[in-house]
Amino acid sequence: MGNETLDNLLNESRTFPPSDEFAAQANAKAELYAKADADREQFWAEQAERLTWDTKWSQVLDWTNAPFAKWFVGGKLNVAYNCVDRHVEAGHGEQVAIHWVGEPGDTRDITYAQLQDEVSKAANALTSLGVKAGDVIAIQLQMIPEAIFAMLACARIGALHSVVFGGFSPTALRARVDDAAAKIVITSDGQYRRGKAAPMKANVDEALEGAETVEKVIVVRRTGSDLEGEVPWTDERDLWWHELVDGQSAEHTPEAFDAEHPLFILYTSGTTGRPKGILHTSGGYLTQTAYTHHNVFDHKPGEDVYWCTADIGWITGHSYIVYGPLANRVTQVVYEGTPNTPHEGRHWEIIQKYKVSIYYTAPTLIRTFMKWGAQIPAEYDLSSLRVLGSVGEPINPEAWIWYRETIGANSAPIVDTWWQTETGAIMISPLPGVTSTKPGSAQRALPGISAKVVDDQAQEVGKGGGGYLVLDQPWPSMLRGIWGDNERYRETYWSRFAEQGFYFAGDGAKYDADGDIWLLGRVDDVMNVSGHRISTTEVESALVSHPTVAEAAVVGASDPTTGQGIVAFVILRGNAVDGGDEAIQALRNHVAKEIGPIAKPRQIMVVPELPKTRSGKIMRRLLRDVAENRQVGDVTTLADSSVMDLISTGLQSGRSED
Ligand code: PRX
Repeated sequence: MGNETLDNLLNESRTFPPSDEFAAQANAKAELYAKADADREQFWAEQAERLTWDTKWSQVLDWTNAPFAKWFVGGKLNVAYNCVDRHVEAGHGEQVAIHWVGEPGDTRDITYAQLQDEVSKAANALTSLGVKAGDVIAIQLQMIPEAIFAMLACARIGALHSVVFGGFSPTALRARVDDAAAKIVITSDGQYRRGKAAPMKANVDEALEGAETVEKVIVVRRTGSDLEGEVPWTDERDLWWHELVDGQSAEHTPEAFDAEHPLFILYTSGTTGRPKGILHTSGGYLTQTAYTHHNVFDHKPGEDVYWCTADIGWITGHSYIVYGPLANRVTQVVYEGTPNTPHEGRHWEIIQKYKVSIYYTAPTLIRTFMKWGAQIPAEYDLSSLRVLGSVGEPINPEAWIWYRETIGANSAPIVDTWWQTETGAIMISPLPGVTSTKPGSAQRALPGISAKVVDDQAQEVGKGGGGYLVLDQPWPSMLRGIWGDNERYRETYWSRFAEQGFYFAGDGAKYDADGDIWLLGRVDDVMNVSGHRISTTEVESALVSHPTVAEAAVVGASDPTTGQGIVAFVILRGNAVDGGDEAIQALRNHVAKEIGPIAKPRQIMVVPELPKTRSGKIMRRLLRDVAENRQVGDVTTLADSSVMDLISTGLQSGRSED
């Protein structure tokens, strides 16, 4: 984030106190902070009581083997039972759990009783294939109810799911399948994307060619005859979901698992090219997702209609579509498609139809809505909305104010929630009804959570000061490790402030004059494009795997809509002198093929050299200056200071907007 933006943020003086009316009915009260400070473990024990335990824990936290935490030691529960069955047992079987909206306009309402049947049948189906507790199931599905059934079925039998975002390429899927040794893959025949049916199963087949661990592929029929051509099929390996699942018994007795039993793996980008399998476990994760969903969104079961627009391929979809909300007996909208299919008012039309009261989305989408214009939401009745949420990247004050005025009728509190795949649940956020909100600031750690902004020496900075964001106390939904790599886990998160035992989040942050926290973006080589984490190294590796590329350097340059945009600098091989439009387009497509369309560079510049330090490290700071059209900064540490002149004069740029 540029200095100018930073200054704007720090000069932001508008605050919006909650109305008396909202505060009076709010789930969260101001006392929560003091209560948590007085006895953190007791506080979390009380939050864990929101869940139904088969066996109560004997100890809240065991941190003796830090950084490997154990929460609710000795406790046993079944996560799926908590998200489904217990609501039916309590007499809410007829309550709608999911109002599902398909992109072509088809809909499906699923009650808790129906959800219980579907999850039980899917659990029986997986068991019939020999799946056991501890096995890994990869899921690559779009936003259809079966994605949620499949995740909960895994949880129910103690198998781990590894959900892979539907937009990831076959190469990316394969890397994840192999890393976790997935036994089963669940996917669909095809998916609707902007009104067209696109293949899914064909991509999965490409990914799985020669994959040694995969025994079965289960295929949900979604696009059917809308999809052109045959769905490729391997008889001894592939099964249709409806043929396998529909005939199963809807009776299934959930088994209680240890609070630390693994729940899922979710891969995320780090600073190297190899994605990390973030591991989450059961009791602590469900406690904190349910606690935050209840307090941060002020959710009232049976009254509110909630909608989180994330995809289940990301952590937001795991924690705030599946686990936290369902544990709290939510009624929620799940939407399959893109926000402008078939028209740009699609979200508002859905909010009006289902009387959505809590809406949780990403700044990049809010900025896109701004671009489309306020006249679009103005055509719909949005008066049901009472809480608005934001996640994934810093929200600029302009977008925040637009969100409040245009969508929230100047009254719905906005919760800007900071967290990560690794934290599992929201960590820093206002509490609606308690906090006076400030446009652009996530403000302060939630009750029970401790965050600090520190300098290089791990000293907390003062008001107005900036530095690194750290979490200085363990929390229930924290990651328990990186799948198969404990050393990388220590190294990545716990080595920078090892002496103090701080978790280093990778984000820069500042305190303002009131001591509120402002997130300033990543300080490492991770980019944030439309709220998606992509590492510069990952894109560089994809580029150099193309035969025409000799060397590549990638930076995240600020972008008015997507937060950051990917800008690549490439040196072509000697015999590939052609840096024309076609060659650049081919490189962009190559990255999409290697990683997925979300990683396609916004711009590729062909350069004769790259700026490097004497030790050979690429100076991305200078490339960012070029990418953001700024005066190039200090070049004195470059091995060859004339390189930047070469770059500036010899630039051939390729930019595309798709
Ligand atoms: O840089 C922060 C940014 O997103 C990163 C985490 O990305 P991911 O693991 O994909 O999870 C995204 C959804 C939780 C963080 O390190 N980030 C997330 N939320 C915010 C944010 N930056 C600023 N403000 C936020 N509210």
